[in-house]
Amino acid sequence: MQKQLKVTETTEEERVDKNDKKKLTAADLDQVRRLEGFPLGRDEEIIKLSDPPYYTACPNPFLLNFVDRYGKPFDSAADNYHREPFASDVSEGKNDPIYNAHSYHTKVPHRAIMRYILHYTEPGDLIFDGFCGTGMTGVAAQLCGSPDPELKLQVEQEIPGVKWGARRAVLGGSLTCSHIHCL
Ligand SMILES: C[S@@+](CC[C@H](N)C(=O)[O-])C[C@H]1O[C@@H](n2cnc3c(N)ncnc32)[C@H](O)[C@@H]1O
Repeated sequence: MQKQLKVTETTEEERVDKNDKKKLTAADLDQVRRLEGFPLGRDEEIIKLSDPPYYTACPNPFLLNFVDRYGKPFDSAADNYHREPFASDVSEGKNDPIYNAHSYHTKVPHRAIMRYILHYTEPGDLIFDGFCGTGMTGVAAQLCGSPDPELKLQVEQEIPGVKWGARRAVLGGSLTCSHIHCL
């Protein structure tokens, strides 16, 4: 039986202290080896490049546990989700230190992505970005829980009733393989 992924609201150090950091093993890789996109590389190299359970340099074998734990199953009878389309100009510069941490030709400033996440989702929701590039959606999802004061003020004027709080992100793509962002 698969072990449950244990993710708690703690710092990375606390997580490691609690021996909470899951090891990536060849048996874990066996679960995803046959998926399209599994890298052409030796197991030990994939394992060395990974930071389980959050980042794996291959399809993430811990993803199901994560979704089981944090996802809310769709209930067609009770679901009343509705949002009007987000129709507002969004303009953000490219001089933020996070934006400049590493360059990428199609990178989107995380402060811009935050507007869409805040409009369309609730705190704690799961967000999937399957073409995540440098992972700015993950950064944006987490920073919805701790926006800088200037952005907070600005967004509260743009989106009345905005609900602050981190969202959880699942990211994938040719650049990043599989990454889970959570608190
Ligand atoms: C527009 S970029 C996303 C940029 C991202 N929002 C950021 O801020 O860095 C789209 C990404 O999807 C990746 N991609 C495109 N087609 C893909 C595919 N079929 N499978 C996996 N990744 C793909 C590209 O390599 C690129 O990194």
